[in-house]
Order: sequence, then C-alpha cells, then structure tokens
Amino acid sequence: MEISPAIKYVGVDDLDIDLFESQYIVPDGMAYNSYIIFDEKVVIMDTADARKGAEWWSNVERALDGRTPDYLVVQHAEPDHASLIAEVMEKYPSIKVVATAAAIKMLPQFFGGIDFVERGIAVKEGDTLSLGSHTLQFFVAPMVHWPEVMVSYEQSEKVLFSADAFGKFGALCNGGGWECEARRYYFNICGKYGMQVQNLLKKAATLDIKTICPLHGPVLTENLGHYIGLYDTWSKYEPETEGVFVAYASIHGGTAVAANRLADILRAQGAPKVVVSDLSRCDMAEAVEDAFRYSHMVVCAASYDADVFPPMHDFLHHLKIKNFQKRRVAIMENGSWAPTAGRVMRVMLESMKEIEIVEPMVTIRSRMKDSDVAAMERLAASLLQ
Ligand code: FEO
Repeated sequence: MEISPAIKYVGVDDLDIDLFESQYIVPDGMAYNSYIIFDEKVVIMDTADARKGAEWWSNVERALDGRTPDYLVVQHAEPDHASLIAEVMEKYPSIKVVATAAAIKMLPQFFGGIDFVERGIAVKEGDTLSLGSHTLQFFVAPMVHWPEVMVSYEQSEKVLFSADAFGKFGALCNGGGWECEARRYYFNICGKYGMQVQNLLKKAATLDIKTICPLHGPVLTENLGHYIGLYDTWSKYEPETEGVFVAYASIHGGTAVAANRLADILRAQGAPKVVVSDLSRCDMAEAVEDAFRYSHMVVCAASYDADVFPPMHDFLHHLKIKNFQKRRVAIMENGSWAPTAGRVMRVMLESMKEIEIVEPMVTIRSRMKDSDVAAMERLAASLLQ
C-alpha cells in the first residue's frame, strides 16, 4: 500500500491473535501499522509485534528494495509496535533510533545489551529531522498511551503519524467502519488519559493535517474533522450519544428480568435510546465503551457474599481505572435475604469523579413484583429529568 509515492505502508495484519494485550477480543484481528519514508534519507516508522515478524520483514525488504534505512523512528515502545527494534538494529548497524529521551531510557528494559544512548537520537518537543525534501517534526504525547510516546508530523506532505491515537481494533484486510472499533479501542486503551489526549489535540490543531497514519487501523485521508471531533468528545468525557446504558449482573435471572423491565420503562418515558448489557456474558470492553458513550447509566446487580455479584464489581472496577466521570447513574439492587449490592455499587461509583447518583435506589427481593414497578418508574423519571 502506498500513502504517497514517497511513503509506503509496511505494516501487517494479525488474524491469529486471540486477545489483544491479552485482554481484548478482536474478532476482526489486529493491524500493526508501520511505514517507510523514502527521500535522501530513508526512515522506518515503528516496527510491529514479533508475532508477525516474518511478514513485517518481508514487507520492509520488498519496500526497501536494497536501500539501507538511515533512521528508525520509535514513537511508542509498547511491544505491539516495538518488538522488532533489536532485529532492525542488528541488521542495519548504522541505523539510528529516533525517539523521546523517555523511550531511549525505557527501551533497554525490553532489549538488554544494546546501547540506545550511543545508537539513538533523543528528540524533544518540536525538534525536526530533515530527510531531504521531507522533514519530520516531533511532538511529545505522554500517556497517549505510555509516557514515552511521541507523534511525528511530516511537513511537506502534511502527514501526521499519530502513534496509538486514532487507532482501532481490526485487521486492515477486514475493513469495517471506524467508529465502533475505534471507540472500543479508545476507551479501553486510552480512556484514562483524556487530559493528555486533549493536550495532543491542541497541538494537532496547530498543524495542517491532510493524512493521519495511526499505528492501528486504517490510514485516514478524508473527513478528518469527524475523527478529531469524536476524539475531542471522548477525551473530554462528554457523552457521544443521548441515551441510557443499562448494565446488569444477574445470577439466576431475576435481576435480568428487572433490568429489562426498567429498560422498557425508560423507553416508555422517552429515553431516546436504551441499550442493555448482561455483564456476565457480554464483552467487558464493549460494556466499558457503552458506559462512556451514553449520557446516562443504570447499574443493576444481585447481592453476593455480602458484596456485589462479581461481574458488576469487575465492570465498576474497569470504569474506575479508566477514569469514568461526568455521568448521572441510577442503581437497582437485588437481594434474597440481606441486600448489599446497592451499598457496594454506591461506594464504588462515589469514588469516581463527578458521578451523580440518582435517587431513590430500587431494591428487588429475589424476583421483581408488580409492586416494584412504581419505584422503578420513579427511578427512571428521576434519571431522565
Ligand atoms: Fe498499540 Fe499502546 O500500543
């Protein structure tokens, strides 16, 4: 694939991977993007995961066609992009690694026995690297998604190499739209670091960008304002869609019935969209994504061991570490003898920023009764007001 006559795609698709980062299902596979810029100097932009090392090397050698690369730009030291750095340095003894000082400090942790200070060029905010008619300019992007991250802007063709930003799950050969898997990727990979993403967007706003080349997912060439706008919404923790996400954790089905009834009540009361997820069976990353996506949330869970049923605990733990915030949340608990789920969910939610818990919480005893409906209607009305 060609980004332009001077910029070639040498990344690889991974269709064999079961879990990205050993935690995220990727039914459409994963892409590890990598690029080469050809000019008087030749630059490889990041490598790939060693899982696909042979394929990456095949792409690189075909593109290089005998030329020796001068630089390896390392925007991010995470192994899905950086696993092949030592092989590149061994094959090309004269190559220089261009990275932030933080990356040059971190890389020996992954690759012992290589002197990255001797063989590296540490770049700072705004530094440039002339390749001939092309010039790379570097901007640090700490915590998007690791502390050593930087992005690179090629000035002559106005290409932003954006590291993990604007990436998505899914192999390129499987195509698919951007929003769904980019959103799931964003909130689960970068969601904690909204402020840092905002800082990067402010820098990007000063650049004239024609093409975005991320480290995952498709190269973006059109309608860039749409993608940048979504990143702005997501990184401000603002809801993208008006609606209610109803997440439930049910042991024997009683809480599930109540959660679905509450969803029907919300629809009847005019909620523009209501989405229901069974936390015991859904993809947790998708549930996290939906919590951030929608403007309102309801959590419904059974009590368990004087605590909350573990799938809900796991969900709320994920939201806490991903910096979930700025939402109104309603709680419905279930308990057959001593209900405890509501108290635990409340404490977990109150530990998050700017979460307003909507009252009054509803308590179901084993199975929802007709007599519970009035309280559920009050809770729904209170949530939607
Ligand atoms: Fe795609 Fe943070 O690595």
